[in-house]
Amino acid sequence: MTSFPFKLLAVDGGARTGVLKTPRGDIATPAFMPVGTAATVKALYPEQVRDAGAQIILGNTYHLMLRPGAERVKRLGGLHAFMRWDGPILTDSGGFQVWSLSGLRKLEEDGVTFKSHLDGSSHHLTPERSIEIQADLLGADISMQLDECTPFPCERDAAARSMELSLRWAQRSRDAFGERKTQAIFGIVQGSVYDDLRRDSAEGLKRIGFDGYAVGGLAVGEGFEMMCKVLDATTLFLPSDRPRYLMGVGKPVDLVEAVARGIDMFDCVLPTRSGRHGQAWSDYGPVNLKNARFAEDPRPLDESSDCPASRDYSRAYLHHLVKANEYLGSMLLSWHNTAYFQSLMARMRAAIDDNRFETFRKDFHDKLGQPFD
Ligand code: GUN
Repeated sequence: MTSFPFKLLAVDGGARTGVLKTPRGDIATPAFMPVGTAATVKALYPEQVRDAGAQIILGNTYHLMLRPGAERVKRLGGLHAFMRWDGPILTDSGGFQVWSLSGLRKLEEDGVTFKSHLDGSSHHLTPERSIEIQADLLGADISMQLDECTPFPCERDAAARSMELSLRWAQRSRDAFGERKTQAIFGIVQGSVYDDLRRDSAEGLKRIGFDGYAVGGLAVGEGFEMMCKVLDATTLFLPSDRPRYLMGVGKPVDLVEAVARGIDMFDCVLPTRSGRHGQAWSDYGPVNLKNARFAEDPRPLDESSDCPASRDYSRAYLHHLVKANEYLGSMLLSWHNTAYFQSLMARMRAAIDDNRFETFRKDFHDKLGQPFD
């Protein structure tokens, strides 16, 4: 039934490598998807995103339906042509962004009514409309079901009701999507921090049948330990022959721990957002380029990197750009961070393929405690 074959290549403990085949190219997993919310991975050219190693990016229904409008993107040839990215694009369905960004919102069985964060105008998003926007108008390779990202903390009863609504929306999203040869649709597991709700959600989604399964409702304030616990409880009930996607995560250490628990795909604004705020990511954690210790440091961030931003510009220059609030500072640090996250994924894939992921994981944690020099 699925149009996107997913081949597992190696399994090492809970971690696995694979290839998700799409008509617009193969995706080596575990994969990190740079976020291109408004039809741009902020501060980067598409060529830089690709050269950094990204094989798929994420776009957002919520932002694009409000501006420039999904019908307009369709008239301009679809999202790929519009933004000049010819690789696969996964779009988020809008539920999470309505929850986190919009002003007044009203959740009903039919869908969600919300006011735009841009101009206060009123909009209605249903599972059917979200799929129409993603698959038909934007032309996403992978569409996500409409869901409700259950807020945290949440009482059990409320979490159960929210998860059940997401399940009903999963069925409606799946029905609206129908059968397509060149596009895929993923379901989203909810259930807050309650193991049995996560299980019921996963089982319900499997009965409906999706091309891939996302874990939603995490990284919303529950903390690292709880996130790991919920992942353990959830992946147990996800089919091992389909990709598993942890939404909105995260820091490098979160990626390593989620890969250890069998997650195959990630997205997060962190590399580009922290790049715009003067932060460079490294195996030693985040580094603040504003720090005076870099004012006369002639060394690059990482001389061993293939990324020009990491290899060819001095820390002193980056320090100056960040201090002076120059656009190029944001651009170079977003580029470095995007390349760093891709290289981290590539190193994890290599470790899993060589059956040494546990050593990689231990070395990663050891290094994280040491100073960046
Ligand atoms: N991004 C991060 N978390 C979520 C979630 O729970 N649902 C959706 N749709 N997107 C997300």
